[in-house]
Amino acid sequence: MALGVRDPAEPGSHGMTSFDAERPDTPEPEQKLSMGIDPYEKNWMRASVLLLVVFFTTVTIAGFAMGIQVVGADAEVDPRIVTDSGPWADPGVREIRPGEYEAYVIAQTWNFEPREIELPVGSEITIYVTSPDLQHGFKVTDTNINMMVVPGQVSKVTFTFDEVGEFPYICHEYCGRGHANMFGVVKVVNSTEDGASS
Ligand code: CUA
Repeated sequence: MALGVRDPAEPGSHGMTSFDAERPDTPEPEQKLSMGIDPYEKNWMRASVLLLVVFFTTVTIAGFAMGIQVVGADAEVDPRIVTDSGPWADPGVREIRPGEYEAYVIAQTWNFEPREIELPVGSEITIYVTSPDLQHGFKVTDTNINMMVVPGQVSKVTFTFDEVGEFPYICHEYCGRGHANMFGVVKVVNSTEDGASS
């Protein structure tokens, strides 16, 4: 009795092993040793390799052409002393050039300092956030600003506020009992009103 090998030309035998001693067209024993790969399976293998190539390409483009990388030593701070001196000792927003602002924000249990950032409409702002204690988040509603704030590192984002309005920012990494109290607001005001203040 011979162990039948799947014959792709034969309907109904797909993937099945059958005992078939009597059939006249049973392949010779030497032929049975060749191992074929189902075309369907081959396509899935091609698709998996293609996906790997796509992932590798996107990561390479993001990392080297677009500069999206893990923060380097220049964005590291000592969380124990970060609020003692430098810009983090006096967090807030300031104008660095006409229409261009920067804000240093401390995220800590359980509030943001400052809790309000005011800007004239159309300004570009670079926001630096760090934490002196544990991990927090910084997400500004109705924008794509969404950062994790890790002690020892500075999270940085640049954004242009083109619309007048209030854009609340919240901590969106659970950080303990007072997590829900961690919020603030970006107020984008008409540029005819008085200039921005912290
Ligand atoms: Cu800070 Cu949640």
